[in-house]
Amino acid sequence: MAIRQSGISLKEFNTFGMDVKARDFSRVSTLDDLWQVMDWIENEPGKLLFLGGGSNLLFTSDFDGWAVAIQNKGIEILSRNEDFVRVKVAAGENWHDFVMWCVENGFGGLENLSLIPGNVGSSPIQNIGAYGVELKDSFQSLEAYDLESREKLVLEFKDCRFGYRDSIFKQELKGRVILWSVTFRLSVQPVVQLSYGAISQELNAMGILNPGIKDVSEAVCRIRRSKLPDPAEIGNAGSFFKNPVVSAEKAEMLQASYPGIVTYPVPDFQVKLAAGWLIEQCRFKGFRRGDAGVHPNQALVLVNYGSATGSEILELAEEIQQAVLEKFDVLLEMEVNVV
Ligand code: FAD
Ligand code: EPU
Repeated sequence: MAIRQSGISLKEFNTFGMDVKARDFSRVSTLDDLWQVMDWIENEPGKLLFLGGGSNLLFTSDFDGWAVAIQNKGIEILSRNEDFVRVKVAAGENWHDFVMWCVENGFGGLENLSLIPGNVGSSPIQNIGAYGVELKDSFQSLEAYDLESREKLVLEFKDCRFGYRDSIFKQELKGRVILWSVTFRLSVQPVVQLSYGAISQELNAMGILNPGIKDVSEAVCRIRRSKLPDPAEIGNAGSFFKNPVVSAEKAEMLQASYPGIVTYPVPDFQVKLAAGWLIEQCRFKGFRRGDAGVHPNQALVLVNYGSATGSEILELAEEIQQAVLEKFDVLLEMEVNVV
């Protein structure tokens, strides 16, 4: 049975560590809980916010609505053959714990996505990605519920319209559905994915010549720990901006003026630019105003050193956007959801 709490702090529910209050708050572990909360909301209309691990959110004020923490649990093997296993995972499962479960069981595909904070239910929303792999590469389908009709929807790969840090859940279905479980198709004959140079370097440093998925997972964890701040120590939400994608012509022009610019080719004659490099060139790396700052090792990560407010972080983000726009004529799009 769901419980309604009023005026509680959401500090534990966002990795920026913003001490904001929710007008109303509930945890849901079952569909009955969910519909009970939705009944309450129908009677007292107001804003609704689902919370997973709160690792891609920035609260700029108290939340004047209903915050609903999704906490359903369960990992189920649906089928298995010589090559693949299909695994259905509840939205409320922790992402990294699930990846570790896969690695322990020898199921390959998600090991490069080790140590990404947050929950399984949020992972398709921005098609999480890291170290040469995206969620979509192992995705089979998901179950969601339409919040208005309360009908169950099953979305297959093509329905989700995955892109770089993008999916239908950030577009047409934004705010209209709750993601309830995700089914993955994982390899039981895993082939490791080492396209991202830093992984091979780390494996070499670890003295591993023939890596398996466990080794790749360990290498990714080591790289991440060396580069990214741990939210348990310094509040942050990972990359604050997406890496911008520009036309090949625009990239060539930038390269002519800035030979050191970091670029990656992407399909459709487009080029992805490393936003961290652009921000660093605007001299924001390591910048700090009060408790709001830009991480000294990774300029794409904005941080809360303790008591920064969400508005202070947002103000800094907008200043960075403006500086990058003026210098490079490139608009940085925020990855983090500002509430
Ligand atoms: P939340 O922040 O709780 O929610 C994100 C959004 O989804 C919100 O709008 C929320 O309302 C909505 N939502 C959440 N759950 C549901 C649901 N079940 N149904 C409908 N809507 C829902 N991301 C990457 O892609 N790659 C990385 O390498 C990476 N590294 C990170 C490193 C650090 C240190 C941190 C703090 C973050 C990093 N991120 C990365 C971002 C973040 O981990 C991912 O975006 C993650 O998927 C967010 O999950 P969450 O459960 O915390 O989502
Ligand atoms: N760089 C700089 N200065 C910086 C940071 C980066 O010059 O301060 C340049 C470096 O040349 C570096 C390159 O940018 O080689 C890329 O940096 P990094 O490998 O750290 O990756 P990123 O592009 O900054 C992206 C994702 C991360 C993901 C990593 C690893 C986005 C927005 N971010 O970061 O995802 O973990 O690649 O694959 O795509 C997240 O989304 O929250 C996130 C952390």
